[in-house]
Order: sequence, then structure tokens, then C-alpha cells
Amino acid sequence: MALLEIDDLHVGFPVAGGRVVEVVRGLTLRLDAGQAMGLVGESGSGKSQTALAIMGLLRKPLRITRGSIRLDGQELTKAPEEALRRLRGGAMSIVFQDAMSGLNPVFPIGTQLMDVLRTHRGLSGQAARDAAVEALEMVGIREASARLRQYPHQFSGGMRQRVLIAMAIACRPKLLIADEPTTALDVTVQAQIVALLHELRNKLGLALLFITHNLDLMAEICDRAIVLYGGRMMEEAPIDPLFDAPMHPYGRALLDCVPRLADTPGALHPIEGAAPMPGRLGEACPFAPRCGESLPRCTEQAPPELVFGPRRAACWRLVP
Ligand SMILES: Nc1ncnc2c1ncn2[C@@H]1O[C@H](COP(=O)(O)OP(=O)(O)OP(=O)(O)O)[C@@H](O)[C@H]1O
Ligand SMILES: [Mg+2]
Repeated sequence: MALLEIDDLHVGFPVAGGRVVEVVRGLTLRLDAGQAMGLVGESGSGKSQTALAIMGLLRKPLRITRGSIRLDGQELTKAPEEALRRLRGGAMSIVFQDAMSGLNPVFPIGTQLMDVLRTHRGLSGQAARDAAVEALEMVGIREASARLRQYPHQFSGGMRQRVLIAMAIACRPKLLIADEPTTALDVTVQAQIVALLHELRNKLGLALLFITHNLDLMAEICDRAIVLYGGRMMEEAPIDPLFDAPMHPYGRALLDCVPRLADTPGALHPIEGAAPMPGRLGEACPFAPRCGESLPRCTEQAPPELVFGPRRAACWRLVP
């Protein structure tokens, strides 16, 4: 049994006429304990809504309309809010892009950290303080006991992100979801945060679901990745084969967009056309309108998910 098992997940919201607009459409995913999975795809492809669905944090009107999410065998889609609250910050936690939004500006960070430790590990007084110091040290914050008294605004952006990661790991979760954790930071700090996540994953045996636009950062930290488009999985593969030879035309297009150090200037190939609007998606392959290799049936019918050893891909071109 994998730590995280998602089967045929659909997330959507009702619109007029009894229709439901889906933003995640039939996602299946397995993540083993201690493994790191990347989730990539253009803006609007459904990455964050997938993360929020796992955490039980979808905002109305969005909700899970079909499918199953199991953490350690426990079904989350039907779990009562109280059980989800216990799991959040306990067995699973999430770090968002904007560290400021995850921290309360009016309380010192020590108070916020100790709050988490009280709620999820039943710690109070000196034990909570010690665990808070330990968590801050684990994320590379020096003079941790003195910094417990400081407020979020007294930390730099990168340091705030470290504090947020400390809060996320303080209860030793099995699963850490990081949704664009470095997007708001400058390049050197990004690399440091990614290195930190990598180190924590090894030290604590965390499973990591790493959501990003940055394929190079993803390659540094993840074992495998799922490429999403229009709420659907286009392909999934271990990092090296994915980068060497993406199987799906969208995977190829996405990798072509990424400037590489070795590239000659100007060798950038943006994907023509615009990302799809969720309400306009039919049953066809969502990428078909922008795909340079589409066949007539690509615009008529969803391609099946094909399995190729450790890889999966959904493309009519790959159907024998
Ligand atoms: N509250 C909402 N109501 C309706 N649609 C929403 C709502 N929030 C998000 N969406 C839509 O859901 C789709 C998926 O959004 P999601 O936030 O998961 O994208 P993403 O892949 O995380 O993109 P980004 O890279 O920009 O963060 C988008 O088309 C978005 O417009
Ligand atoms: Mg997002």
C-alpha cells in the first residue's frame, strides 16, 4: 500500500443548469513513504486544487465530486471535518507560496509553533518550547530560542518560509505538500529552500508532493513527476526519462519552454495558444487544440491512460 493513494479524483463546482465544471478530472496517483513526486503544468492545470483536495481545504464552491484519496489507508474524501483537522499538521501538512499568509502577523513565531505542537502532539510548557527550538534548528534557523520571541515581519522572506516549513514538520508528518514554496523568493534563496526540503525528506523520511512551475527545481528534488493539463494527467514518469524523452506532446512542449543553461539565446519555444478554460473542456484531449501532432480522434474522445513500465501517458498517438 502506498502512503498516498488517489484514484479517479474529480474536483469541480456546480454552475447553472445543473452542470458541474471540473478543474481536476480523473487524477490517479501513488506516492510511497519517503518518495518525492513533482506535480507540474501550466497555470490553471489543477495543481493547487489537487493539493487542497488532499488536505481537505477546498474552498466552496469547489468540492470533490468523485474519486478517492487515501492516506495510510484512511479514506479522506468522506472523513468528517474533525478528523481532517487532526490529520492536517499531524500526518500531513502543506506549505504555500506566500509564507506571510501562513503566519499570523500579530503573534511571535514561537507562540504559533507551540500552538501547533500543543494541538497535535499535546506538548505544553518547556516541552513545547524545546520542540519548537528543535523544529527551528532543523530548518536551519540559528539562535532559535531567541528567535521564538520574534514576529513574522522580523524575518526575511526566505527565513519566513523556513519558519513555515518548521511549523509544517514540527509534528513529523508523513506527507508534506509544498505548493510553489519558492516562487516568491529570489533565485539563490529558492535553491536553499529546495535543498532544505531535500534534506528534511531524507532526515525525516517525509513523502513530498512538490508543486512547481520550475522544472529544474523539481528535477533536483523529485524522484518522479506527473504532468497535468486541463485537470488531467498527461503523463507520469521518473525524472530522468521524463526529461530525456517525454512521451506526451504536452510534456515535450513544456520541456521545450524551459530555458536550459546549455541553450543558445533565443532557443525558447513557448507553447502556442492559451491554456483551456475549465468550463469549455469536453471529453476530448484538453491539449488537442494546441497540439502540433493531433489526430482527428484527439478532438473527439479522451485518450486512454497507457502504462509503459514505470511510466504512464494519455495520448492517442501512443495507442498502438
Ligand atoms: N474558487 C474557484 N471557483 C471556480 N474556479 C476556480 C476556483 N479556484 C480555482 N478555480 C479554477 O480551477 C482551475 C485550477 O486551478 P488551480 O489553482 O488548481 O491551478 P494551478 O495549476 O495551481 O495553477 P497555478 O500554477 O496558477 O497555481 C483554474 O482554472 C482556476 O481558474
Ligand atoms: Mg496553484
